Amino acid sequence: MLSVRKKLVVGNWKMNGGQSQNAALIDGVRGSVPEGVDVVVCPPYPYLAQVKTLVAGAGVGLGAQDLSPRKGGAFTGDVAASMLLDVGCEWVLVGHSERRTLHGEDNRLVAEKVAAALDAGLTPILCVGETLDERDGGRAEAVVSAQVAAVVDVLGLVAMAKVVVAYEPVWAIGTGRTATPEQAEVMHACIREGLRVAGVAADGVRILYGGSVTAANAASLFAMPDIDGALVGGASLVADGFSSICAAAAAS
Ligand code: 13P
Repeated sequence: MLSVRKKLVVGNWKMNGGQSQNAALIDGVRGSVPEGVDVVVCPPYPYLAQVKTLVAGAGVGLGAQDLSPRKGGAFTGDVAASMLLDVGCEWVLVGHSERRTLHGEDNRLVAEKVAAALDAGLTPILCVGETLDERDGGRAEAVVSAQVAAVVDVLGLVAMAKVVVAYEPVWAIGTGRTATPEQAEVMHACIREGLRVAGVAADGVRILYGGSVTAANAASLFAMPDIDGALVGGASLVADGFSSICAAAAAS
């Protein structure tokens, strides 16, 4: 059965890049972005404007890695959704596990950030995922469901249908230990069912998998019915690898 959801592949560059590396990377990706797939890159803040220029005509969208829940003012170091929009972003990651862990972002703050993004007209990519302890303790589905539910509570059902969800098990991020396609599918189906039961139009919500996605494992992940694309860290920094993941999404 053909999915109603268009595949989405997002490169999260994290704190990597530089003006010349960015240019080389986008140059390498240009020309190999397949039809029928949404492709987005999320560089660090200082490079957003540069990368906006680089991706012109390449069929690649621009996203940021975080945003403030506030509209503007005396908040040193923070960046408002309207500023991201102003430099050409259409997407923004919210609640990445590295933000949750290293910057103490809780479900409430994450929900406020998702709301701020939607308010400004950006598409938020809400990142959720359990730690290894939580998985080993049998709490993975409860933890992830609570992370999603906290956002549904703040946004409401209609707005939630506009959010992209990215399931990124913390134990799979940057470790080379990918969730198996079956493990990921179980969680994706659980997230979609949770949304449906809450009353959200869940069939249209794209749910991405993230965590050690590479050109070698992308196709088997994309073959799963509830995996609608990928949020790619390390492998998005190499043009060939990222292009291959995009091609696998197009072929799925
Ligand atoms: P890796 O693909 O490097 O495991 O990172 C995943 C991730 O955190 C993407 O947001």
